[in-house]
Parts: sequence; C-alpha cells; structure tokens
Amino acid sequence: MAEKYTKIKKIYEGKAKKLYTLKGKPGVLLQEFKDDATAFNAKKKGTILNKGIINCGLTTYIFTFLKKRGVKNHLVKQISPNEQIVKRLKIIPIEVVVRNIAAGSLLKKTNLKEGQQLSKPIVEFYYKDDAKDDPMINDSHALAMKLANEKELNTLRQTASKINSILKPFFLKRGLRLVDFKLEFGKDNKGTILLGDEITPDTCRLWDKKTNKKLDKDRFRFDLGGVNEAYAEVRKRIIGK
Ligand code: TMP
Ligand code: ASP
Repeated sequence: MAEKYTKIKKIYEGKAKKLYTLKGKPGVLLQEFKDDATAFNAKKKGTILNKGIINCGLTTYIFTFLKKRGVKNHLVKQISPNEQIVKRLKIIPIEVVVRNIAAGSLLKKTNLKEGQQLSKPIVEFYYKDDAKDDPMINDSHALAMKLANEKELNTLRQTASKINSILKPFFLKRGLRLVDFKLEFGKDNKGTILLGDEITPDTCRLWDKKTNKKLDKDRFRFDLGGVNEAYAEVRKRIIGK
C-alpha cells in the first residue's frame, strides 16, 4: 500500500515553494512547488503555467542524478506531480552562486560582457536576507555573522564546484549551456551539510547551445515572452516530455 502523508502545519511559504511538517514523520518535510513567479525580490510578480509541476519534476530528476554521483542532498522521493518528501534541514542562510559565462548581476559588478566565457568558474556567496536584498558577502562577512565556520564555507565552495562539474556536461548533452546557477545548503540532524532547495530554470540560467536563446526565468524577469514555452522546452530536453 502507498505510504500516507498527512500535512500538519505549513512552516514556510517562500516565493516558489511551501514546506509542511507531516504527521508521525518528524525527520522529513513535504515540499510543494507553486506556479507563482517573482523577480527582483518580489517587486515583480506573476505565474508561470505548470511551473510547479515542471520544477518539481526537474528537481527530482537532477537531485537523483547528483545523488548517484555522490552529491548528498535532501531529496527522499517525489509523491505527486508537484510535491516531494525531503529531509528536514536547518538551512544555512547563504546562497551559493556559480558562474561559467558572464550574465546577470556579474555584468553590473565587472567589465565583463554578456556571453563572455569565464576562464575559470566564479563562486560567490550571498547573504540570504530579503530585508537586505540578498547582498553579496565574502568569507569574513559570513564568519562575522556566524552563518557558518571556515570549514563549512569551504565545503559549500567545494560542493558547489563539484555540482558545476557534474551539471555542465549534463545540460550540454541536452543542448543547454549552464551559464550560472544558485544553490542552497542545510544541515541534517547529525550536522552533515546537504544540498537542499531546487535546481530549475528559476535558479539556473540555461541558454540553447546553438542559438544562445534564453530558456530560463530571465524571460519572465525581462519580459522576453515565451516564458511557459521555455520551461516546457527545458522539461522536454531533460525529462523527455
Ligand atoms: P544573478 O546574476 O542575478 O546574481 O543570478 C545568478 C544566478 O542565481 C541565476 O542563475 C539566477 C539565480 N538566482 C536565484 O536563484 N535567486 C535569486 O534570488 C537570484 C538573485 C538569482
Ligand atoms: N527569486 C527572487 C525574487 O523573487 C529573485 C529572482 O529570481 O530574480 O525576487
């Protein structure tokens, strides 16, 4: 018989997902993906058709792939088109961004031009705090705020680099250039750092290998049109439907 999951309490509602505790299952949470989309710290709001289902399916596929390649993560299993069971983590409030090609906020901070290949991936930390607009921070800032210790910061950097080296060829095989992406990590009840959150066109920049067409949330952020189609195209290339 299929296992039963009874939601008890919504403990978090973010811009793209909700998290619920479950009856009789203290170690795990139910993660529900929404169709809502926001950008620029929720100054821009909308919905993307089927985004919850697409992003849930993509995250399950990619987290399963990463686990097989030795990247520990929070995924237990997907239980419905837009719901997953995930291990309960204490999220480290640092967003880890990895960049392979210049785009987005990197263009404002540097003299690099959009589309320029970086000779070496750039890894950046951002302090996850909406009230402060998620500012970029360095290790000293993270240590001063006690967000993590030195060893943990190195684990975040090394794990993010490893994920990049796995996902770059993964996407390229499917006709997509992994321009940049954002990761979140958390600690389980033993203090082990696991990858959490999601990996989707909301959190990655993905460009078509041949045409460099943007197939990610930048279409929503900058009103480029064809948003629903771009998400559906990424799903087709990765999951095959
Ligand atoms: P950025 O160029 O705006 O700094 O974004 C870098 C990557 O991080 C890009 O793939 C989009 C992703 N991202 C998020 O997932 N959430 C965010 O809040 C922001 C600002 C970026
Ligand atoms: N997710 C973030 C927000 O709502 C930013 C973004 O993805 O552009 O503001």
